[in-house]
Amino acid sequence: MIIAITGTPGVGKTTVSKLLAERLNYRYVNLRDYALEKGLGEMKGDELELDVDELVENFAKDFKGEDVVVDSHLAHHVPADIVVVLRAHPKLVAERLKARDYSKEKVGENVEAELIDVILVEAIEENENVIEVDTTGKTPGEVVEEILGLIERGVRRRIGIVDWSEVYDEVVPYLRL
Ligand SMILES: Nc1ncnc2c1ncn2[C@@H]1O[C@H](COP(=O)(O)OP(=O)(O)OP(=O)(O)O)[C@@H](O)[C@H]1O
Ligand SMILES: [Mg+2]
Repeated sequence: MIIAITGTPGVGKTTVSKLLAERLNYRYVNLRDYALEKGLGEMKGDELELDVDELVENFAKDFKGEDVVVDSHLAHHVPADIVVVLRAHPKLVAERLKARDYSKEKVGENVEAELIDVILVEAIEENENVIEVDTTGKTPGEVVEEILGLIERGVRRRIGIVDWSEVYDEVVPYLRL
């Protein structure tokens, strides 16, 4: 089974994916590292620019039939059995990205993306089986348990569980308005 873990940068994908892969005894694949290994994409400054179609084609060929947890903000584009969209209060996203010394502009972009569900909407367009998980106030271990519980119960679609417009006022200071 291929499980894709996607979400806004800083939402906790890598932390959760590694733990989930360990629990399931699945292979962990970071899409960026995979692309670099395969010589896909082009470096523009310190950002890797990827042709999503090319990436998906290669991934599909290389991992068909394998048990994989694939981690990336592009993971919802690969042919996965289940797409997990991790969510976090946009303020948490902001604080984590700020701590990584991201520019104000980049923090703002990503906070806005989380606020308005950009990755969720893309994921729903790509895959029937989309499970949304709110990580806010939970430990990575708790998030992994929640994902495992849902999968074991046969849940394949659970969306619409957060609405960050309710906390818009708290998020405004981070937006580039
Ligand atoms: N419930 C949680 N789930 C996941 N991460 C959490 C949670 N609570 C706190 N964290 C912390 O949030 C940070 C998330 O960073 P992480 O690198 O996993 O995010 P990411 O989504 O992979 O980011 P990027 O898209 O830039 O790769 C880590 O420091 C992690 O310890
Ligand atoms: Mg990561």
